[in-house]
Amino acid sequence: MVVCHCQAVNDARIAAEVASGDVVDADTLAQRCGAGSRCGGCMPALEALLEQMGVGGTSGSVTTTTFAA
Ligand code: FES
Repeated sequence: MVVCHCQAVNDARIAAEVASGDVVDADTLAQRCGAGSRCGGCMPALEALLEQMGVGGTSGSVTTTTFAA
């Protein structure tokens, strides 16, 4: 499913970037694949997806949430 239409980034690409361990928030995701770096219309969906994957949202506005096993 395409999440960021401006940059043609889908959820599989986002999952791969998160799995790399280098994505700590929406800003670092944008730096790695461009998602959310243009119109910003996908930011709510991006942040929700990152939260589902255990990664914080936009720096400074959402903190990283880690769930204990
Ligand atoms: S839809 Fe993602 S930046 Fe425009």
